Amino acid sequence: MAEDAQPLKVAAIGDLHVKTDGTASYKAIFGEISREADVLVIAGDLTDLGKPAEAELLAEDLRACTIPVVAVLGNHDYECGCVEEVSRILQQAGVRLLDGQWTEVGGVGFVGVKGFAGGFGRAMLGSFGEPAIKAMVAESVSEAMRLENAMRQVKTERAMVVLHYAPIVETIAGEPLEIFPFLGSSRLAETIDRFPVKAVVHGHAHRGAYEGKTPGGIPVYNVAQQIPKPNGCPYALLTL
Ligand SMILES: [Fe+2]
Ligand SMILES: [Fe+2]
Repeated sequence: MAEDAQPLKVAAIGDLHVKTDGTASYKAIFGEISREADVLVIAGDLTDLGKPAEAELLAEDLRACTIPVVAVLGNHDYECGCVEEVSRILQQAGVRLLDGQWTEVGGVGFVGVKGFAGGFGRAMLGSFGEPAIKAMVAESVSEAMRLENAMRQVKTERAMVVLHYAPIVETIAGEPLEIFPFLGSSRLAETIDRFPVKAVVHGHAHRGAYEGKTPGGIPVYNVAQQIPKPNGCPYALLTL
């Protein structure tokens, strides 16, 4: 870190799953986060079914947030096939929605992609057989390459990677073993380890574990709101 660089307080949360039934409001939590942190990071599944009406509700709650908001989408945000409208609503609410780009807040570069499934280590799904399997592997490789391209653009010394899918197995431990390959891909970690990244956040694995490390030693945090955090809050507080 440069001598004049100020530490940046990051509040990170994932898997808000905002529904139109109005069961959960995030106004109070966004207000609290605005007092405690310099930036809010949301790690995907902002909406429950990817409905524009859900995005509108979240946009309304985000009016309580007075700090910059950086986010990636999750698989749930694609469900209704309205991802462009959902994205537009969130962007109009001031969210810096990352999908293969980076953005700077307070001297820290935030690099975001949704990521994809595909499995981990030697057990990763290989590009073999039916076109449908090859298409799935190609999507997984493509997300890792889009992350790499975005990482190459980063101009700041400090960088945080924001994902929805998990890059390692440690932070999905607790989920049924049978679904591990659908929760993320270690292709993401292989890419991250080639760059000087300070920390990685992801969501998606609601029953996973809070903390882990890439094979290269970069800290990874599962910030899904359902995961218990050291501060006892639904969001994590990280200092970069
Ligand atoms: Fe989720
Ligand atoms: Fe998800």
